Amino acid sequence: MPILGEDVERYLKDLRPHRGPVMAEMEAIAECDGVPIVHWETGRLLAAICRAMDPVVLEVGTAIGYSTLHMAEQVRRGRVVTLERDAARAAQARDYLARAGVADRVEIVEGDARETIPAVEGPFDLLFVDATKTEYREYVELARPKLRDRALLVVDNLLMGGDVAAPPGTSTRWPDDSLDSARALNSELIAGRGWLGCVLPVGDGVGVAALL
Ligand SMILES: C[S@@+](CC[C@H](N)C(=O)[O-])C[C@H]1O[C@@H](n2cnc3c(N)ncnc32)[C@H](O)[C@@H]1O
Repeated sequence: MPILGEDVERYLKDLRPHRGPVMAEMEAIAECDGVPIVHWETGRLLAAICRAMDPVVLEVGTAIGYSTLHMAEQVRRGRVVTLERDAARAAQARDYLARAGVADRVEIVEGDARETIPAVEGPFDLLFVDATKTEYREYVELARPKLRDRALLVVDNLLMGGDVAAPPGTSTRWPDDSLDSARALNSELIAGRGWLGCVLPVGDGVGVAALL
């Protein structure tokens, strides 16, 4: 469900520029196979951040590498370390990223991120979180010691199609435990507990926060 009105959603969608062949194929495959990838606007937000910061990125949740490609296309001295527990998806991502010509800037680490984060080599300038919603806090806590002092955190699906704002007892598309997890993180990012952050109505709701 769009978090913006349908008219605004359609208006923004119509403004999207032409994508390269590999990115377009990833979007088509994701749609056809039901792979959950970020909205194009979220990918573009990540791309703009990567263009400006040229960061070393830690991404939790690769899937087929769509958000990874948005970021990897923009880094030069930076790189993207991306974590995925599903071996088949990691293999798809590896193939797409090689075909898109960015494989040399991306390291795909297979396994459960809760086990692989402690072993990845930082420091990281940007942490992008987009895997199991109930595990978000754990990823952030595990990654925190590997972040640079002024690192940026970006988190997807924090508005969950608007479900986070649903009154108690309302039927929602997202399960209660995912909603609880998103609501807790939203308060934490906005209240400034360790982060200077906000939640933007981009895509499915994107948290953007700097480490305090
Ligand atoms: C929403 S998709 C990621 C989409 C991707 N960021 C994109 O926009 O192209 C979430 C991915 O996280 C992976 N995932 C979920 N829990 C994980 C975990 N604990 N460790 C590693 N990967 C995980 C899933 O297998 C899935 O492919």
